[in-house]
Amino acid sequence: MDSTEKERVVDRFPRKPDQLLAVLIALQDNNPQNYLSEEDLDLAARHVNVTKARVYGVTGYYSMLSTVPRGRHILRVCRSPVCRMVGGDAVESVLVEQLKVDPGGTTADRAVTLEHTECLGRCHQAPIIMIDATVHGPVDGKKATELAGRLQQGERS
Ligand code: FES
Repeated sequence: MDSTEKERVVDRFPRKPDQLLAVLIALQDNNPQNYLSEEDLDLAARHVNVTKARVYGVTGYYSMLSTVPRGRHILRVCRSPVCRMVGGDAVESVLVEQLKVDPGGTTADRAVTLEHTECLGRCHQAPIIMIDATVHGPVDGKKATELAGRLQQGERS
């Protein structure tokens, strides 16, 4: 995405400080590497008229925002107690083995980044995983294999 396209993305939002998070999410969502570059952070700060320090504060606080390049898809495993108690650890092991990536890492083909997340508020469906913006649960080993397989297949087609 070039600078003009990025300007177009941020221009959808009012030039108000309370729009900072929304602007950052939009910029990240429009980045094929799923992250916010220094240029993105500068653009967001200018657009909503806040300091760069405030932008760093927001990016540091929200785990869904990244300032390092990630895969085209983000796969998050809930690591909060309810999910872990009902099989979340086993689900993560299946994903690590199938995708050949450790939590925090990105697959060699840059298709998937595996991350941890705190409770997603769907404990009644635990264990939960989230692929991009879609929450899946309950997920057992078989379902995790199927979902990861679909991600890998989608990348190949
Ligand atoms: S503990 Fe995983 S969704 Fe709440």
